[in-house]
Amino acid sequence: MAGLVAGRKPDPKYGRIAKARSLHNNCLTLPVIFLMLSNHYPLAFATQYNWIIAALVFLMGVSIRHYFNTMHSRRPAPYWTWLVTAVLFLAIVWLSAAGYRQGEPQEARLTPSQQVYASAEGFDHVKDIVLGRCSMCHSREPFWEGMRWAPKGLYLETTSDIAKAARLIHVQAGISEAMPPANVSFITPQERQAIAAWYRGAGG
Ligand code: HEC
Repeated sequence: MAGLVAGRKPDPKYGRIAKARSLHNNCLTLPVIFLMLSNHYPLAFATQYNWIIAALVFLMGVSIRHYFNTMHSRRPAPYWTWLVTAVLFLAIVWLSAAGYRQGEPQEARLTPSQQVYASAEGFDHVKDIVLGRCSMCHSREPFWEGMRWAPKGLYLETTSDIAKAARLIHVQAGISEAMPPANVSFITPQERQAIAAWYRGAGG
């Protein structure tokens, strides 16, 4: 712009760069919307392969946009992109159920900072609360109706699970009422206070 105003001939390089950025932007729109919505759908993220799923979603963004971009420029429709998109999508469906690490609850060795939470005042009570109010969903084999996997892969069953997730438990169930969802497991205000007191007592 400055070059034009000064009466110089602008370098066409910048036009090409802008066009490339615009194309990238165009290909990214659908994946971005997908990723924004995906955190409500464990099928999209609750697997150890979620990063491959994200990568494939980006490729789908490219194949879908390529079809429409070509159509909109009045060139022959590249129907092969439908096949590519379908194959990518099937791969995502397959990955979403594959390779979920499950297993028996195991006591892991506590790190020094986890040890602080596990031996802090009130831990035993908090562990009872968590086992009673959270572990029906947050376990290696959830027994909440319709729940196959622990939401967000977060296990709350063992001492080490709980010590490791101390801050998250405090935030989601101690000082806020985010968990359990809609208080389905009837945690009481006193129990929330107990969680918060334990966390603060441990210096958190
Ligand atoms: C009825 C099943 C259910 C129960 C019971 C439950 N949760 Fe959850 N929890 C969920 C679901 C579903 C999500 C994922 C929410 C989302 O993706 O927005 C979640 C997410 C979380 C997260 C967020 C993890 C992260 O990394 O963002 C934490 C922490 C958590 N729960 C802690 C608890 C605690 C502590 C309790 C018990 C006091 C509890 N939950 C009870 C279903 C449950």
